[in-house]
Amino acid sequence: MTARFRELRGQKVVLRTFGADDVSEAYIGWLNNPEVTRFSNQRFRTHDRASCEAYLASFEGSDNLFVSVRDAADGAAVGTMTAYRNAHHGTCDVGIMIGQRDYWGGGYGQEAWDLLTGWLLSEGGVRKLTAGCLAPNKGMVRLMERSGMHLEATRKRHEIVDGAPEDIVLYARFAD
Ligand SMILES: CC(C)(COP(=O)(O)OP(=O)(O)OC[C@H]1O[C@@H](n2cnc3c(N)ncnc32)[C@H](O)[C@@H]1OP(=O)(O)O)[C@@H](O)C(=O)NCCC(=O)NCCS
Repeated sequence: MTARFRELRGQKVVLRTFGADDVSEAYIGWLNNPEVTRFSNQRFRTHDRASCEAYLASFEGSDNLFVSVRDAADGAAVGTMTAYRNAHHGTCDVGIMIGQRDYWGGGYGQEAWDLLTGWLLSEGGVRKLTAGCLAPNKGMVRLMERSGMHLEATRKRHEIVDGAPEDIVLYARFAD
């Protein structure tokens, strides 16, 4: 379960551990961009350097991964991923944010997702992978389904988006 993540390289993206230098103005801007956080509870708070550094510090000494998603062509930071591993249960909950809005729809999120989840299931000691999102987040639902995850449960009318209650869909995939 404690397999160490270093770097994963694909056609479009490179994934590497998020470090202190990655707390850039652009990164803080993604978290404060209502378009990026539309389907995330980050939209209820405002981030600054201190809140981002505190979040980064929360990964220290844990099995959890905080990953920087970079454009393979020029190394530019385009997003982040998180993987919360539970060594006792062999489970891992994964999240993704492609914060650089002009990269949306270009296949970067899908490749980053497939790379990291593939590694977690094959080398990362994960038995069961989970992820979830609000049902109206069509891009995220498509990305999870395309990666081989299946719908495991639905939390009905669970969170309010634009004044209306929306379902949360929970997806899963087993290593075997
Ligand atoms: C959700 C997100 C990760 C998708 O990343 P992306 O790089 O834009 O997605 P990709 O280009 O790799 O596309 C993956 C699939 O989703 C589809 N898709 C992407 N955005 C979509 C949208 N807005 N509506 C419908 N489908 C969409 C793509 O068409 C593709 O499916 P296809 O190959 O069948 O066409 C990205 O939009 C994002 O980070 N959004 C903000 C943060 C967020 O909502 N994260 C998830 C919170 S749980």
